[in-house]
Amino acid sequence: MKFPTAVGAAALLALPVTAAPQPVSRRTISTSVLDEIDLFAQFSAAAYCSANLNTTGTALACDVGNCPLVEASDTTILYNFDDTNSFGDTTGYIAVDTTHKLIILSFRGSSDLSNWIADIDFPLTDASDICSGCKFHEGFWDAWETVASNITAQIESALSTYPGYTLVSTGHSLGAALAAIAATVFRVSGYTVELYNYGQPRIGNLALADFITTEDMGSNYRVTHTDDPVPKLPPELLGFAHFSPEYWITSGNNVTVTDYNVTEVIGVNSAAGNDGTTNSSVSAHLFYTIYISACS
Ligand SMILES: *[C@@H]1O[C@H](CO)[C@@H](O)[C@H](O)[C@H]1NC(C)=O
Ligand SMILES: *[C@@H]1O[C@H](CO)[C@@H](O)[C@H](O)[C@H]1NC(C)=O
Ligand SMILES: *[C@@H]1O[C@H](CO)[C@@H](O)[C@H](O)[C@H]1NC(C)=O
Ligand SMILES: *[C@@H]1O[C@H](CO)[C@@H](O)[C@H](O)[C@H]1NC(C)=O
Ligand SMILES: *[C@@H]1O[C@H](CO)[C@@H](O)[C@H](O)[C@H]1NC(C)=O
Repeated sequence: MKFPTAVGAAALLALPVTAAPQPVSRRTISTSVLDEIDLFAQFSAAAYCSANLNTTGTALACDVGNCPLVEASDTTILYNFDDTNSFGDTTGYIAVDTTHKLIILSFRGSSDLSNWIADIDFPLTDASDICSGCKFHEGFWDAWETVASNITAQIESALSTYPGYTLVSTGHSLGAALAAIAATVFRVSGYTVELYNYGQPRIGNLALADFITTEDMGSNYRVTHTDDPVPKLPPELLGFAHFSPEYWITSGNNVTVTDYNVTEVIGVNSAAGNDGTTNSSVSAHLFYTIYISACS
C-alpha cells in the first residue's frame, strides 16, 4: 500500500529535464486514494467543530456542512481532549466509524492560525528512544506529550472493544503535526496506523523523516495544497525535513478535486511538490478538498 500505483507515464513526461538530482518521481493517484483523502479531510475538519469536542456517545457532525462523508457514516465519539499548554492547544477526539471499521484519532489545528504560524520555529529535541538519531520539533513534541498517556489508554481501549478495526491518525495544520507524531509513536509501540494529514509543517529532522518514510507499520498520506506556506515551515535550513510521499493537490481553492489534480511526490525533502512553489498563499492552507477549518 505504500507505493500503490504504477508510475504514470504522463506524469513522468511532464517532469522538466532539469528535475532535481535527488531520486524523485511523480505519479498520478488512483480514485480510491482520492476517496480516502476526501474522507479523512472531513474527519480532520470535524475536529474543528465544538460539538465534537465536548461530548461522547454521539455521532460526529459539522454544523457548517463540511463533513458530509463523515455524517453519512455510522460514527460515535469515544473521547475528547482539550489541553492548553505552552505551545498552544492540543485538542481533538477519538471516534469509532462502524461503516468503514475505523478507529479515528483526529487532532484540531490551532484556533489562532496567524499567531501559530508566526511562532512555529522551535528547536529540535532529541528522541533517540523513538528512532536512532531522531529529533522532533520541541513545541509539537511537548504538545503531544501532554495528551499522550490519556490518548494511548483510550486508543488501547477502543482497539480492544473493536478488534480488527483500522487505526487512523489524522489532522490539519498543527493537528497534522500532532497526528504524524502520534502515528509514529504508536507504530514504534507495535500498532499499525494509517496517517492522513493535511497542510503538515515539518515535525523533525532528517533521521526522523527517513524513519517515517521507511517504516512499515502503516501508510503515510501527507497531503499538501498548491503553495500552502505551512508545509514549508520550519525551514530545512534549521535542520527540519519532510517524510515521503507527499500528495500534492495542484488545483485551486473552492473547486472539486479530482484524482487528476493530485500528484504523488516521492522522495524525502522533495522539491517537486509544494516545496518547489515560489509563492505562498495562506488561503491555500485552508482549502483541503473542503474548507477544512470552517467550523473554527
Ligand atoms: C459543546 O458544543 C455545543 C455545540 O457546538 C456548544 O453549544 C456548547 O457550548 C459546547 N459546550 C462547551 C462546554 O464547550
Ligand atoms: C487525563 O485523564 C484524566 C482522568 O480522566 C484527567 O483527570 C486529566 O485531566 C486528563 N489529562 C489531560 C491532559 O487531558
Ligand atoms: C483538475 O482536474 C480536471 C480534470 O479532472 C482538469 O480539467 C483540471 O484542469 C485540473 N486542474 C488542475 C489545476 O490540475
Ligand atoms: C465556493 O464556491 C461556491 C460556488 O461557486 C460559492 O457559492 C461559495 O461562496 C464559495 N465559498 C467560498 C468560501 O468562497
Ligand atoms: C506569484 O504571485 C504573483 C503576485 O500575486 C503573481 O504575479 C505570480 O504569477 C505568481 N507566481 C506563481 C508561480 O504562481
